[in-house]
Amino acid sequence: MPDGTPFTVRQRRLTRAVWQLNGIGDPIKERRGYSLVTGEMTMRVMILAMVLIGTLTDASPATAREFRLGLITPPTHLWTEAAIRFGEALEAATEGEHTLAVFPARQLGTEAQLLQLLQTGALDFAILTISEVSNRLPQFGAFYAPYLVADVGEAAALLRGSTAQRMLDALPQELGVFGLGYCLAGMRQILSRDALAAPTDLGGQKIRITPFVPLRDFYQLLGAAPTPMPLASVYDALTNGQIDAIDMDLEAIWKVRYYESADTLMLSNHMMFPSVGVISGRTWLRLSEADRELVGRLMRTHLDRVMDEYVEQERQWEVDLRGAGVDVVDVGAASFGSAIAEWEALWLPQAPVLATLKAEAAANADRSRPR
Ligand code: BEZ
Repeated sequence: MPDGTPFTVRQRRLTRAVWQLNGIGDPIKERRGYSLVTGEMTMRVMILAMVLIGTLTDASPATAREFRLGLITPPTHLWTEAAIRFGEALEAATEGEHTLAVFPARQLGTEAQLLQLLQTGALDFAILTISEVSNRLPQFGAFYAPYLVADVGEAAALLRGSTAQRMLDALPQELGVFGLGYCLAGMRQILSRDALAAPTDLGGQKIRITPFVPLRDFYQLLGAAPTPMPLASVYDALTNGQIDAIDMDLEAIWKVRYYESADTLMLSNHMMFPSVGVISGRTWLRLSEADRELVGRLMRTHLDRVMDEYVEQERQWEVDLRGAGVDVVDVGAASFGSAIAEWEALWLPQAPVLATLKAEAAANADRSRPR
């Protein structure tokens, strides 16, 4: 192999991740003999990288593993069901050699704590909200651009697209985990204890938000008082009036019965709410190539299927809520006043990928619109 043989993007990423996970810094950026422009490595650096990858990855025959997956959603949530199906599929495909224990409902901690466990290798897999990821990597805040997509179908198309997939490449280096595939919960809606006509009526009211910056900014720009609160605390806070409203999706509003403590559902579809299935970098590097292919494919398949389930089920949850006597008010982008344009002005510099995502979302919408 001649000196300067092209190093594939995948080899490059893996090498960088190996070095990073072992605290050796990033030789790819630092060393001479490697061109960031052409993507070529000298023979010397390439051999060193391949030796290191070979040493640190388990190229030996697959060993039986009891994997662990953590997530914050309750047992009845579609993400949790997908995690269980992923485990069953893994066990079936390996004839029981690999098993998966699923820990839902924050049994292993908050998403920040799950991430720490993943980084140390104490946890193998997680399904993390992109909100947690965006707190560390602002580029991911772009997914929360209000009305970036119109519905879950468009959200799923965007997450399956090339820009979103490329964004996952940053995870090994920045977070020490590999992103295997996206998933989503439904679009965000506003459920309010008081009878309100429009989101702008939320002025000064305490609205529960998932704790992440893009959403906090959005409600601040709207003039509300965003109140960060984990999912597990929402029911009591809404019931006892500690908060006036919640930012939530239809699945949770219906299944957790939040609607019982509220007068108005503003059906706004104002934001998508993606998640990502990840594997600990340490676990990944110890897997054989065959096991990497298997866990990647199975996780991606089961998460992807959930996106279709949301497309099928969101309409039914809406019908169920209307049937339960909830006052449903249809609201659109115009009812948020200037908050949407102001949010974009604030977030485009922090998450420049937003421009590309918007173009891709618009092209997807054009393609799916009946002519
Ligand atoms: C929330 O914080 O609202 C949330 C988190 C995970 C799944 C669905 C909703």
